[in-house]
Amino acid sequence: MDIEHTPVISGTGLFTPEDSISNEELVASFNAFVERHNGEHAEQIASGEVDALHPSSVEFIEKASGIKSRHVVDKASVLDPDTMCPRLPERSNDELSIMAEIGVDACNQALRQAGRDVTDVDAVLCAASNMQRGYPAMAIEIQQALGIDGFGFDMNVACSSATFGIQTAADYIRSGNAKSVLVVSPEITSGHLNWRDRDSHFIFGDVATAVLVESKDIAPAEHWEIVGTKLKTVFSNNIRNNFGFLNRTHPETAADPDKLFIQEGRKVFKEVVPMVAAMILEEAGRLGIEPTSLRRMWLHQANAGMNRLIAHRVLGHEASEDESPTVLDTYGNTSSAGSIIAFHKHCDDLAAGDMGLICSFGAGYSAGTVFVRKSA
Ligand code: COA
Repeated sequence: MDIEHTPVISGTGLFTPEDSISNEELVASFNAFVERHNGEHAEQIASGEVDALHPSSVEFIEKASGIKSRHVVDKASVLDPDTMCPRLPERSNDELSIMAEIGVDACNQALRQAGRDVTDVDAVLCAASNMQRGYPAMAIEIQQALGIDGFGFDMNVACSSATFGIQTAADYIRSGNAKSVLVVSPEITSGHLNWRDRDSHFIFGDVATAVLVESKDIAPAEHWEIVGTKLKTVFSNNIRNNFGFLNRTHPETAADPDKLFIQEGRKVFKEVVPMVAAMILEEAGRLGIEPTSLRRMWLHQANAGMNRLIAHRVLGHEASEDESPTVLDTYGNTSSAGSIIAFHKHCDDLAAGDMGLICSFGAGYSAGTVFVRKSA
């Protein structure tokens, strides 16, 4: 491929909300809610009409997931046992919306890192699990806020949104339809998490990431060449969120817990690990890359155990933190942003010629691989 049509990553950006919630704080709030619920329904629980709720535990959360804390945009409301969800004041149509605001912050960092002026950017793809409205597209609002003359659109492939966005941007470069594309993933996952559900209340955190994908001929000397990308989807109901604009057409079920994130975590674990490991090995083979030569894997950050197993299958040995870095412990699962946070925070120390893999997986099921090689 000539350098004009060779896609590279020339910058990344990360917005992290100031507030973070430790497992201890989260469990204290959840257990206060449980105690109150069980007290208020003591008679119905005794007669079998209502099920008693069970307390959560810090030890379980850390052992089952590897998560120790997570950042959120509204800590006080999430922890308030009377509210247990973020409360974000409605903004007028003249104000920048919150998803656009955190996305713009991450984009500006990516542009700065690449030394790129917005006048050179052609497109903005907003790739995330949840959009705060139907339209106009978040991407177009971000494009406008940054002052980009071009086009933008939203795409949602749940936890794989960012890698699907990177392949889409790379394809624009490969075809010559664009030279510089921002892929931005504002993930306000606290809004889709059921903070009253013991099985999942600890999983998610809020963040925004941005990746600047460009053609090699305009990229700064220090960049990551995109050697190959591969996407895969297989339908599954094991991770699902039925929230949507048609909920108002059946108001009697609009408040059901399945209008927030729900999952069969065990099944996801069992089914996704082999699917993703096989996909990585197959794609590495197609690209002529020896899997054991991968210097680092920036894996989707959903569960530390899943990452251990996937990395082991690919590398043939237990991966060190250096080979497969974790950000899950302090960020939680940030949906599509997870592997990008890991890449952003843990890529500077690699040497020219080093090969790495950005890989996401999640609802759909969906999975995406982006093999990259450091230029300088
Ligand atoms: N505190 C204490 N105990 C809890 C608990 C909590 N918050 N939540 C569940 N438990 C209990 C369960 O009731 C169960 O008890 P039992 O054995 O007496 O029935 C036990 O802990 C095990 O629960 P289980 O749900 O099977 O745990 P797990 O080991 O599968 O871990 C996940 C749960 C969600 C962390 C794990 O399955 C996972 O991460 N899966 C992958 C999910 C994923 O990647 N999703 C993608 C999202 S985008």
